[in-house]
Amino acid sequence: MGGSILTLSQGAVDGLYAGGLIGGWLALTYACIFRSKPQHGEAADTLVLHASQTGQATDIAERLHRSIVARGEKCASLPADAAKPEHIATAKRLFFVVSTTGDGLAPDNGHRFDQYITDEAPALAGKQVAILALGDRRYSQYCAFGHRIAQWAERGGAEFLFPPVEVDDLSASDLQQWQMHLEPLGYGDATHLPVEDGLPWQVLERHEVAGPAMQGCSGSDGLFRLQLKPETGPTPPWEIGDLFELHTPEGHRRDYSIASLPHEGHIMLYVRKVVHEGQVVLLKGVEIEASYAMANGLYLDLSANIVDGDRVRSSTTAAINGRRDTWTNLPANTYRLWLGKRFGRNLDLRWEATLAQDLNIDTIGTTGAVTTVTRKGYDVHTARASYTVPKGMLQGLIVRVSAENIFGAYYTPALATRPATGRDFKITLSKQF
Ligand SMILES: Cc1cc2nc3c(=O)[nH]c(=O)nc-3n(C[C@H](O)[C@H](O)[C@H](O)COP(=O)(O)O)c2cc1C
Repeated sequence: MGGSILTLSQGAVDGLYAGGLIGGWLALTYACIFRSKPQHGEAADTLVLHASQTGQATDIAERLHRSIVARGEKCASLPADAAKPEHIATAKRLFFVVSTTGDGLAPDNGHRFDQYITDEAPALAGKQVAILALGDRRYSQYCAFGHRIAQWAERGGAEFLFPPVEVDDLSASDLQQWQMHLEPLGYGDATHLPVEDGLPWQVLERHEVAGPAMQGCSGSDGLFRLQLKPETGPTPPWEIGDLFELHTPEGHRRDYSIASLPHEGHIMLYVRKVVHEGQVVLLKGVEIEASYAMANGLYLDLSANIVDGDRVRSSTTAAINGRRDTWTNLPANTYRLWLGKRFGRNLDLRWEATLAQDLNIDTIGTTGAVTTVTRKGYDVHTARASYTVPKGMLQGLIVRVSAENIFGAYYTPALATRPATGRDFKITLSKQF
């Protein structure tokens, strides 16, 4: 039997590598998802529609279906694409358990349904709807397919039994939300929460089958073959087709096809750690403004913009992955001071000073070495005068004269690619009619 290659989150892989599967659990379950009997939805009051790429949504949907049927209710469970308009027209209650794949796409058995739900005014009034959307927050189109179904239900005037539940990477606490909503409906055992009696396992052998690979902005930092044994006692029996269910210390669940044969006495899995070439930016800062004006017309305006920003990198390059350096788009800390005097209502003279601090940008390179580039600070001064003609033919005309960057400082603002303009004299005339 060939092992299918599954993906693992950072946390799960760390758990595998570091802890010898401490906190990992085995539940050798029959892959009931492949064995469930075909369901026909024509005359069902309740429909459980699922769409799943790797089986998790189907698994949850099947449990819900069993729980509903156990209460004697007429319920059918179908892949979303197998649902016909008449199934939906007949049903009074629709449960959706769907994942999102690709970049915001419906799973293969939900593509047609995804097109079906584009209609502007679906006739869903009087129907009750509940949605469980499986996804992973690391994707930009988080739970997108589930959201599209929710929008369709809303457009159609369906009544939501409860707000759609999003599940991030099979998080146990998110699934608990779903369970909590189902309980009052009488479906108390519909969710498969982490098993309490799993086994702790240890990694006997870890072999890198393929090195890091990148496609687009995501990839893997290697494909590994792991050989596992329970920490104590013999390996439990299993059959070809059973799945290895791993619970990570963070509460996520992963199902793996077992790549060894039952008589071999150990479990072999192929795992790939998915990484995204990217960064999480952590910014903190303050903006301060103060102004003061006196009766004799003198005024002072102060502002300060102080920002600090790091990025936490993820990368297939081991030397970079998980490390922290400076966010490359970080602006310099800047301080602005205006000192001016108003003479009556018509003349305003002002001195403006802008000061920027030196900015050090640390960048981690592919070898892991840190290089620091310093963007030099600067101070730029501008004098401005503004005069409003008080009377006569030109009454209301505003004449503005300014000498910008009066000392001709040569500088490049932190986020600019070219140096700023040197000394610059300007005269502006404006009049409102
Ligand atoms: C190749 C791939 C693409 C994915 N794309 C998305 C995505 O665009 N948005 C999202 O929220 N989750 C995404 N996920 C996460 C899955 O929705 C999540 O793992 C889900 O639990 C899988 O459920 P399933 O086994 O029913 O398909 C993706 C997962 C994989 C492996």
